[in-house]
Amino acid sequence: MTEIRVLTDESQYRAHSTLFRRAMHWGLPTDEQWSVVLPSYEPGRVLAAFEGDEMVGTTQSFGGTMVVPGGAVVPHAAVSRVGVRPDYTRRGVLSALMREQLSTLAEPVATLRASEGRIYGRFGYGMAGRVRFLRIDARKAVIPGSPTGQVRMVDPDTSDKLLPELHAEFGQDRPGQISRWPGWWARALDRKTEAENRVMIVHSGSDGDDGYVCYKVSEDKDFKHYMEVQDFAWANAHAWRDLWIYLTRLDLIDEINVDAALDDPLHWLFEDPRVVSTKDVYDQIWLRLVDVPRMLAARTYGSADPVVIEVRDTLLPANDGCYRVSPDGAERVEAQPDITIPADLLGAVYLGDTRFSDLAAAKRIEGSRFDEADALFAGSVAPLCSTFF
Ligand SMILES: CC(C)(COP(=O)(O)OP(=O)(O)OC[C@H]1O[C@@H](n2cnc3c(N)ncnc32)[C@H](O)[C@@H]1OP(=O)(O)O)[C@@H](O)C(=O)NCCC(=O)NCCS
Repeated sequence: MTEIRVLTDESQYRAHSTLFRRAMHWGLPTDEQWSVVLPSYEPGRVLAAFEGDEMVGTTQSFGGTMVVPGGAVVPHAAVSRVGVRPDYTRRGVLSALMREQLSTLAEPVATLRASEGRIYGRFGYGMAGRVRFLRIDARKAVIPGSPTGQVRMVDPDTSDKLLPELHAEFGQDRPGQISRWPGWWARALDRKTEAENRVMIVHSGSDGDDGYVCYKVSEDKDFKHYMEVQDFAWANAHAWRDLWIYLTRLDLIDEINVDAALDDPLHWLFEDPRVVSTKDVYDQIWLRLVDVPRMLAARTYGSADPVVIEVRDTLLPANDGCYRVSPDGAERVEAQPDITIPADLLGAVYLGDTRFSDLAAAKRIEGSRFDEADALFAGSVAPLCSTFF
Protein backbone atom coordinates (compact mmCIF):
# COMPACT_ATOMS: atom_id res chain seq x y z
CA MET A 1 0.00 0.00 0.00
CA THR A 2 1.57 3.31 -1.10
CA GLU A 3 1.33 6.09 1.46
CA ILE A 4 2.05 9.72 0.57
CA ARG A 5 3.66 11.87 3.28
CA VAL A 6 4.63 15.53 3.47
CA LEU A 7 8.32 15.74 4.39
CA THR A 8 9.42 18.24 6.96
CA ASP A 9 13.05 17.83 8.00
CA GLU A 10 16.44 18.22 6.42
CA SER A 11 17.55 14.60 6.53
CA GLN A 12 14.36 13.58 4.72
CA TYR A 13 14.99 16.25 2.09
CA ARG A 14 18.40 14.76 1.41
CA ALA A 15 16.89 11.27 1.03
CA HIS A 16 14.28 12.81 -1.31
CA SER A 17 17.03 14.40 -3.40
CA THR A 18 19.02 11.15 -3.49
CA LEU A 19 16.00 9.16 -4.66
CA PHE A 20 15.10 11.67 -7.37
CA ARG A 21 18.67 11.89 -8.64
CA ARG A 22 18.98 8.08 -8.74
CA ALA A 23 15.74 7.91 -10.75
CA MET A 24 17.26 10.39 -13.23
CA HIS A 25 20.57 8.44 -13.32
CA TRP A 26 22.40 11.50 -11.97
CA GLY A 27 25.29 11.57 -9.51
CA LEU A 28 24.75 12.68 -5.92
CA PRO A 29 25.69 16.13 -4.61
CA THR A 30 28.65 16.64 -2.29
CA ASP A 31 27.93 18.19 1.12
CA GLU A 32 29.05 21.54 -0.28
CA GLN A 33 26.71 21.30 -3.28
CA TRP A 34 23.88 20.09 -1.05
CA SER A 35 24.11 23.26 1.06
CA VAL A 36 23.17 25.20 -2.09
CA VAL A 37 20.31 22.84 -3.02
CA LEU A 38 18.77 22.69 0.49
CA PRO A 39 17.08 26.15 0.43
CA SER A 40 15.00 24.96 -2.54
CA TYR A 41 13.15 22.51 -0.25
CA GLU A 42 10.10 24.48 0.82
CA PRO A 43 8.32 23.04 3.91
CA GLY A 44 4.84 21.74 3.12
CA ARG A 45 5.57 21.34 -0.59
CA VAL A 46 7.80 18.26 -0.53
CA LEU A 47 5.95 14.95 -0.99
CA ALA A 48 7.29 11.41 -0.83
CA ALA A 49 5.69 8.02 -1.41
CA PHE A 50 6.40 5.28 1.11
CA GLU A 51 5.96 1.51 1.00
CA GLY A 52 6.18 0.77 4.73
CA ASP A 53 9.31 2.60 5.90
CA GLU A 54 10.90 2.70 2.43
CA MET A 55 10.81 5.97 0.51
CA VAL A 56 10.00 4.96 -3.08
CA GLY A 57 8.89 8.12 -4.89
CA THR A 58 9.23 11.89 -4.83
CA THR A 59 7.70 15.11 -6.06
CA GLN A 60 7.65 18.70 -4.87
CA SER A 61 6.56 22.12 -6.01
CA PHE A 62 7.74 25.70 -5.74
CA GLY A 63 5.21 28.42 -5.09
CA GLY A 64 5.04 31.64 -7.08
CA THR A 65 3.12 33.26 -9.90
CA MET A 66 2.58 32.83 -13.65
CA VAL A 67 1.59 35.29 -16.37
CA VAL A 68 -1.52 34.32 -18.38
CA PRO A 69 -2.63 35.63 -21.81
CA GLY A 70 -3.72 39.24 -21.36
CA GLY A 71 -1.05 39.88 -18.71
CA ALA A 72 -2.81 38.89 -15.47
CA VAL A 73 -0.61 37.18 -12.90
CA VAL A 74 -1.99 34.13 -11.04
CA PRO A 75 -0.62 31.92 -8.24
CA HIS A 76 1.38 29.06 -9.74
CA ALA A 77 3.01 25.82 -8.60
CA ALA A 78 6.21 24.75 -10.36
CA VAL A 79 6.23 20.95 -10.04
CA SER A 80 9.64 19.32 -10.01
CA ARG A 81 11.85 16.47 -8.77
CA VAL A 82 9.39 13.78 -9.83
CA GLY A 83 10.98 10.36 -9.51
CA VAL A 84 10.24 6.78 -8.54
CA ARG A 85 12.88 4.40 -7.22
CA PRO A 86 13.98 2.27 -10.18
CA ASP A 87 13.02 -0.95 -8.39
CA TYR A 88 9.47 0.33 -7.70
CA THR A 89 8.38 1.67 -11.11
CA ARG A 90 5.11 0.75 -12.89
CA ARG A 91 3.27 -0.07 -9.68
CA GLY A 92 1.27 3.13 -9.44
CA VAL A 93 3.68 5.13 -7.24
CA LEU A 94 3.76 8.18 -9.52
CA SER A 95 -0.03 8.01 -9.94
CA ALA A 96 -0.47 8.12 -6.14
CA LEU A 97 1.94 11.08 -5.85
CA MET A 98 0.24 13.03 -8.66
CA ARG A 99 -3.25 12.45 -7.25
CA GLU A 100 -2.19 13.68 -3.80
CA GLN A 101 -0.24 16.66 -5.13
CA LEU A 102 -3.00 17.87 -7.45
CA SER A 103 -5.73 17.50 -4.85
CA THR A 104 -3.78 19.48 -2.23
CA LEU A 105 -2.21 22.29 -4.31
CA ALA A 106 -3.36 25.74 -3.24
CA GLU A 107 -2.56 27.26 -6.66
CA PRO A 108 -5.04 27.18 -9.58
CA VAL A 109 -2.36 26.19 -12.10
CA ALA A 110 0.72 23.98 -12.11
CA THR A 111 3.44 23.51 -14.71
CA LEU A 112 6.35 21.15 -15.08
CA ARG A 113 9.09 20.10 -17.50
CA ALA A 114 8.54 16.54 -18.73
CA SER A 115 11.45 14.13 -19.09
CA GLU A 116 9.31 12.09 -21.50
CA GLY A 117 6.25 13.04 -23.53
CA ARG A 118 4.03 10.10 -22.55
CA ILE A 119 4.06 10.48 -18.78
CA TYR A 120 1.93 13.47 -17.77
CA GLY A 121 -1.09 13.68 -20.10
CA ARG A 122 -2.90 11.09 -17.98
CA PHE A 123 -2.60 13.46 -15.00
CA GLY A 124 -4.11 16.38 -16.92
CA TYR A 125 -0.89 18.14 -17.96
CA GLY A 126 -0.81 19.27 -21.60
CA MET A 127 2.11 20.42 -23.73
CA ALA A 128 1.43 24.14 -23.57
CA GLY A 129 4.57 25.94 -24.68
CA ARG A 130 7.52 25.18 -26.94
CA VAL A 131 10.86 26.88 -27.33
CA ARG A 132 13.42 27.24 -30.14
CA PHE A 133 17.06 26.42 -29.64
CA LEU A 134 18.95 28.95 -31.77
CA ARG A 135 22.52 28.99 -33.00
CA ILE A 136 24.13 32.24 -34.13
CA ASP A 137 27.18 32.33 -36.36
CA ALA A 138 28.93 35.02 -34.34
CA ARG A 139 31.75 35.62 -36.84
CA LYS A 140 29.20 36.69 -39.47
CA ALA A 141 26.68 38.34 -37.16
CA VAL A 142 26.54 42.06 -37.95
CA ILE A 143 23.98 44.33 -36.32
CA PRO A 144 24.06 47.71 -38.05
CA GLY A 145 24.18 50.90 -36.01
CA SER A 146 25.34 51.80 -32.55
CA PRO A 147 23.98 50.94 -29.13
CA THR A 148 21.72 53.51 -27.52
CA GLY A 149 22.51 52.68 -23.88
CA GLN A 150 25.35 51.32 -21.75
CA VAL A 151 26.39 47.85 -20.66
CA ARG A 152 28.43 46.97 -17.57
CA MET A 153 29.80 43.72 -16.17
CA VAL A 154 28.60 43.04 -12.61
CA ASP A 155 30.38 41.04 -9.94
CA PRO A 156 28.64 38.26 -7.96
CA ASP A 157 28.07 40.46 -4.88
CA THR A 158 26.16 42.95 -7.02
CA SER A 159 24.28 40.38 -9.10
CA ASP A 160 23.07 38.48 -5.99
CA LYS A 161 20.87 41.44 -5.18
CA LEU A 162 20.37 43.08 -8.56
CA LEU A 163 19.40 40.18 -10.85
CA PRO A 164 16.41 38.99 -8.75
CA GLU A 165 15.15 42.60 -8.62
CA LEU A 166 15.54 43.10 -12.37
CA HIS A 167 13.94 39.75 -13.20
CA ALA A 168 10.94 40.54 -10.98
CA GLU A 169 10.62 43.90 -12.75
CA PHE A 170 10.78 42.85 -16.39
CA GLY A 171 11.23 39.07 -16.68
CA GLN A 172 7.46 38.55 -16.78
CA ASP A 173 6.97 39.62 -20.38
CA ARG A 174 5.08 36.68 -21.89
CA PRO A 175 2.31 34.21 -21.00
CA GLY A 176 3.94 31.28 -19.24
CA GLN A 177 6.65 33.32 -17.52
CA ILE A 178 6.88 32.50 -13.82
CA SER A 179 8.30 34.27 -10.78
CA ARG A 180 11.47 32.85 -9.24
CA TRP A 181 11.74 31.67 -5.64
CA PRO A 182 14.70 32.37 -3.28
CA GLY A 183 15.99 28.77 -3.59
CA TRP A 184 16.08 29.14 -7.39
CA TRP A 185 18.28 32.21 -7.13
CA ALA A 186 20.44 30.58 -4.46
CA ARG A 187 21.43 27.93 -6.99
CA ALA A 188 21.62 30.26 -9.99
CA LEU A 189 23.86 32.74 -8.20
CA ASP A 190 25.93 30.17 -6.36
CA ARG A 191 29.51 31.35 -6.01
CA LYS A 192 30.71 27.99 -7.31
CA THR A 193 29.40 29.04 -10.71
CA GLU A 194 32.33 31.46 -10.80
CA ALA A 195 34.40 28.38 -11.57
CA GLU A 196 32.17 27.92 -14.62
CA ASN A 197 33.21 31.29 -15.95
CA ARG A 198 29.77 32.81 -15.78
CA VAL A 199 29.54 36.45 -16.87
CA MET A 200 26.74 38.84 -15.93
CA ILE A 201 26.07 41.98 -17.94
CA VAL A 202 23.52 44.67 -17.06
CA HIS A 203 22.15 47.21 -19.54
CA SER A 204 21.00 50.68 -18.63
CA GLY A 205 19.06 53.11 -20.78
CA SER A 206 17.62 56.54 -20.16
CA ASP A 207 15.42 55.25 -17.28
CA GLY A 208 18.09 53.18 -15.53
CA ASP A 209 18.76 49.42 -15.57
CA ASP A 210 16.48 47.79 -18.11
CA GLY A 211 18.05 44.49 -19.18
CA TYR A 212 20.57 41.82 -18.30
CA VAL A 213 22.22 38.78 -19.80
CA CYS A 214 24.20 35.95 -18.20
CA TYR A 215 26.40 33.69 -20.30
CA LYS A 216 29.35 31.42 -20.21
CA VAL A 217 31.94 30.61 -22.86
CA SER A 218 33.65 27.30 -23.47
CA GLU A 219 36.46 26.47 -25.83
CA ASP A 220 37.23 23.31 -27.78
CA LYS A 221 40.59 21.77 -28.66
CA ASP A 222 40.69 23.78 -31.93
CA PHE A 223 40.35 27.06 -30.00
CA LYS A 224 36.74 27.49 -31.18
CA HIS A 225 34.69 29.49 -28.67
CA TYR A 226 31.06 28.70 -27.90
CA MET A 227 28.81 30.96 -25.89
CA GLU A 228 25.80 29.62 -24.02
CA VAL A 229 23.31 32.33 -23.07
CA GLN A 230 21.88 31.20 -19.73
CA ASP A 231 19.57 33.98 -18.63
CA PHE A 232 18.36 36.99 -20.61
CA ALA A 233 15.66 39.53 -19.80
CA TRP A 234 14.89 43.00 -21.06
CA ALA A 235 12.33 45.73 -20.47
CA ASN A 236 12.31 47.26 -23.95
CA ALA A 237 13.58 46.80 -27.52
CA HIS A 238 16.57 49.15 -26.95
CA ALA A 239 17.93 46.97 -24.16
CA TRP A 240 17.30 43.79 -26.18
CA ARG A 241 19.13 45.16 -29.25
CA ASP A 242 22.01 46.67 -27.27
CA LEU A 243 22.64 43.44 -25.39
CA TRP A 244 22.72 41.52 -28.68
CA ILE A 245 25.17 44.10 -30.06
CA TYR A 246 27.35 43.48 -27.02
CA LEU A 247 27.16 39.68 -27.36
CA THR A 248 27.85 39.57 -31.10
CA ARG A 249 30.73 42.07 -30.98
CA LEU A 250 32.68 40.18 -28.30
CA ASP A 251 36.12 39.04 -29.37
CA LEU A 252 36.92 35.38 -30.04
CA ILE A 253 33.35 34.04 -30.03
CA ASP A 254 32.49 31.71 -32.93
CA GLU A 255 29.03 30.52 -32.01
CA ILE A 256 26.25 31.67 -29.68
CA ASN A 257 23.58 29.27 -28.42
CA VAL A 258 20.36 30.54 -26.92
CA ASP A 259 16.78 29.43 -26.22
CA ALA A 260 14.11 31.80 -27.56
CA ALA A 261 10.34 32.04 -27.93
CA LEU A 262 8.89 30.59 -31.15
CA ASP A 263 8.14 34.10 -32.44
CA ASP A 264 11.35 35.79 -31.24
CA PRO A 265 12.32 38.26 -34.00
CA LEU A 266 16.06 37.90 -33.35
CA HIS A 267 17.07 37.19 -36.99
CA TRP A 268 15.75 40.62 -38.02
CA LEU A 269 18.49 42.32 -36.00
CA PHE A 270 21.20 41.11 -38.37
CA GLU A 271 22.27 42.30 -41.83
CA ASP A 272 22.14 38.64 -42.84
CA PRO A 273 19.15 36.95 -41.16
CA ARG A 274 20.66 33.53 -41.95
CA VAL A 275 23.28 33.92 -39.22
CA VAL A 276 20.49 32.69 -36.92
CA SER A 277 19.49 29.07 -37.41
CA THR A 278 16.94 27.01 -35.50
CA LYS A 279 18.67 23.85 -34.34
CA ASP A 280 15.73 22.40 -32.45
CA VAL A 281 12.21 23.09 -31.27
CA TYR A 282 11.29 21.34 -28.05
CA ASP A 283 8.41 21.27 -25.61
CA GLN A 284 9.03 23.34 -22.54
CA ILE A 285 5.85 24.15 -20.55
CA TRP A 286 3.52 21.30 -19.52
CA LEU A 287 0.51 22.95 -17.94
CA ARG A 288 -2.23 21.64 -15.62
CA LEU A 289 -5.32 23.75 -14.94
CA VAL A 290 -6.01 22.80 -11.34
CA ASP A 291 -8.94 25.20 -10.98
CA VAL A 292 -10.48 25.44 -14.45
CA PRO A 293 -13.20 28.07 -13.73
CA ARG A 294 -10.68 30.38 -12.06
CA MET A 295 -8.08 29.96 -14.78
CA LEU A 296 -10.53 30.42 -17.66
CA ALA A 297 -11.73 33.62 -15.98
CA ALA A 298 -8.14 34.85 -15.40
CA ARG A 299 -7.08 35.23 -19.05
CA THR A 300 -8.40 37.48 -21.82
CA TYR A 301 -9.84 36.31 -25.14
CA GLY A 302 -9.69 37.40 -28.76
CA SER A 303 -12.53 38.55 -30.89
CA ALA A 304 -15.00 35.87 -32.09
CA ASP A 305 -18.53 34.64 -31.44
CA PRO A 306 -18.86 32.81 -28.09
CA VAL A 307 -18.11 29.08 -27.92
CA VAL A 308 -19.31 26.59 -25.27
CA ILE A 309 -16.53 24.23 -24.19
CA GLU A 310 -17.19 21.09 -22.19
CA VAL A 311 -14.25 20.11 -19.98
CA ARG A 312 -13.75 16.52 -18.85
CA ASP A 313 -11.40 16.04 -15.93
CA THR A 314 -11.26 12.53 -14.47
CA LEU A 315 -8.66 13.40 -11.80
CA LEU A 316 -10.25 16.66 -10.57
CA PRO A 317 -13.98 16.22 -11.28
CA ALA A 318 -14.86 19.62 -9.78
CA ASN A 319 -13.63 21.02 -13.11
CA ASP A 320 -16.11 18.95 -15.15
CA GLY A 321 -18.72 21.03 -16.92
CA CYS A 322 -19.48 23.51 -19.67
CA TYR A 323 -17.89 26.96 -19.97
CA ARG A 324 -19.05 29.72 -22.26
CA VAL A 325 -16.02 31.61 -23.59
CA SER A 326 -16.46 34.98 -25.29
CA PRO A 327 -14.42 38.16 -25.79
CA ASP A 328 -15.89 39.33 -22.45
CA GLY A 329 -14.54 36.36 -20.47
CA ALA A 330 -15.50 32.84 -19.43
CA GLU A 331 -18.24 31.51 -17.18
CA ARG A 332 -19.72 28.18 -16.23
CA VAL A 333 -23.05 27.48 -17.98
CA GLU A 334 -25.66 24.79 -18.47
CA ALA A 335 -25.70 24.58 -22.26
CA GLN A 336 -25.07 22.31 -25.20
CA PRO A 337 -21.31 22.21 -25.83
CA ASP A 338 -19.71 23.09 -29.15
CA ILE A 339 -16.43 21.39 -28.22
CA THR A 340 -15.58 18.64 -25.72
CA ILE A 341 -12.01 18.60 -24.47
CA PRO A 342 -10.10 16.64 -21.80
CA ALA A 343 -8.13 18.51 -19.09
CA ASP A 344 -4.67 17.89 -20.59
CA LEU A 345 -5.63 19.33 -23.98
CA LEU A 346 -7.30 22.33 -22.36
CA GLY A 347 -3.89 22.86 -20.74
CA ALA A 348 -2.30 22.62 -24.19
CA VAL A 349 -4.48 25.38 -25.70
CA TYR A 350 -4.55 27.63 -22.64
CA LEU A 351 -1.47 29.78 -23.37
CA GLY A 352 -2.16 29.95 -27.13
CA ASP A 353 0.66 27.64 -28.29
CA THR A 354 -1.76 25.00 -29.65
CA ARG A 355 -4.95 25.55 -31.66
CA PHE A 356 -8.26 23.73 -31.18
CA SER A 357 -8.39 23.15 -34.95
CA ASP A 358 -5.04 21.30 -34.85
CA LEU A 359 -6.30 19.04 -32.05
CA ALA A 360 -9.49 18.40 -34.06
CA ALA A 361 -7.47 17.59 -37.20
CA ALA A 362 -5.46 15.09 -35.16
CA LYS A 363 -8.77 13.59 -33.91
CA ARG A 364 -7.88 14.47 -30.32
CA ILE A 365 -11.07 16.52 -29.66
CA GLU A 366 -14.61 16.49 -30.98
CA GLY A 367 -17.16 19.15 -31.81
CA SER A 368 -17.55 22.13 -34.09
CA ARG A 369 -16.72 25.87 -34.30
CA PHE A 370 -12.99 25.27 -33.89
CA ASP A 371 -12.10 28.43 -35.85
CA GLU A 372 -13.98 30.58 -33.35
CA ALA A 373 -12.30 28.79 -30.44
CA ASP A 374 -8.90 29.34 -32.10
CA ALA A 375 -9.60 33.07 -32.45
CA LEU A 376 -10.74 33.37 -28.84
CA PHE A 377 -7.70 31.57 -27.38
CA ALA A 378 -5.04 32.99 -29.75
CA GLY A 379 -2.41 35.01 -27.92
CA SER A 380 -0.66 38.06 -29.35
CA VAL A 381 2.75 36.55 -28.47
CA ALA A 382 4.00 33.00 -28.11
CA PRO A 383 4.32 31.67 -24.56
CA LEU A 384 7.70 31.20 -22.92
CA CYS A 385 9.07 30.25 -19.53
CA SER A 386 12.69 31.33 -19.22
CA THR A 387 13.00 29.89 -15.71
CA PHE A 388 14.19 26.28 -15.70
CA PHE A 389 13.17 24.20 -12.68
C1 LIG B 1 8.38 8.39 -14.90
C2 LIG B 1 8.21 7.75 -13.54
C3 LIG B 1 8.12 8.85 -12.48
C4 LIG B 1 6.91 6.92 -13.56
O1 LIG B 1 6.66 6.40 -12.27
P1 LIG B 1 5.80 5.06 -12.05
O2 LIG B 1 5.56 4.91 -10.60
O3 LIG B 1 6.43 3.94 -12.78
O4 LIG B 1 4.44 5.44 -12.78
P2 LIG B 1 3.03 4.69 -12.55
O5 LIG B 1 3.28 3.25 -12.19
O6 LIG B 1 2.18 5.49 -11.61
O7 LIG B 1 2.44 4.77 -14.02
C5 LIG B 1 1.23 5.36 -14.36
C6 LIG B 1 1.00 5.12 -15.83
O8 LIG B 1 1.97 5.87 -16.58
C7 LIG B 1 2.68 5.01 -17.45
N1 LIG B 1 4.07 5.48 -17.49
C8 LIG B 1 4.83 5.78 -16.43
N2 LIG B 1 6.04 6.20 -16.85
C9 LIG B 1 6.01 6.16 -18.19
C10 LIG B 1 6.97 6.46 -19.17
N3 LIG B 1 8.21 6.88 -18.85
N4 LIG B 1 6.62 6.31 -20.46
C11 LIG B 1 5.37 5.88 -20.78
N5 LIG B 1 4.43 5.57 -19.88
C12 LIG B 1 4.75 5.70 -18.59
C13 LIG B 1 2.57 3.63 -16.82
O9 LIG B 1 2.75 2.61 -17.76
C14 LIG B 1 1.16 3.67 -16.26
O10 LIG B 1 0.25 3.46 -17.32
P3 LIG B 1 -1.17 2.73 -17.08
O11 LIG B 1 -1.90 3.59 -16.08
O12 LIG B 1 -1.79 2.72 -18.43
O13 LIG B 1 -0.83 1.39 -16.52
C15 LIG B 1 9.37 6.79 -13.19
O14 LIG B 1 9.45 5.80 -14.20
C16 LIG B 1 10.72 7.50 -13.09
O15 LIG B 1 11.11 7.90 -12.01
N6 LIG B 1 11.44 7.64 -14.24
C17 LIG B 1 12.77 8.23 -14.26
C18 LIG B 1 12.78 9.68 -13.78
C19 LIG B 1 11.84 10.58 -14.57
O16 LIG B 1 11.78 10.53 -15.79
N7 LIG B 1 11.11 11.42 -13.83
C20 LIG B 1 10.21 12.38 -14.41
C21 LIG B 1 10.91 13.70 -14.39
S1 LIG B 1 9.94 14.93 -15.23
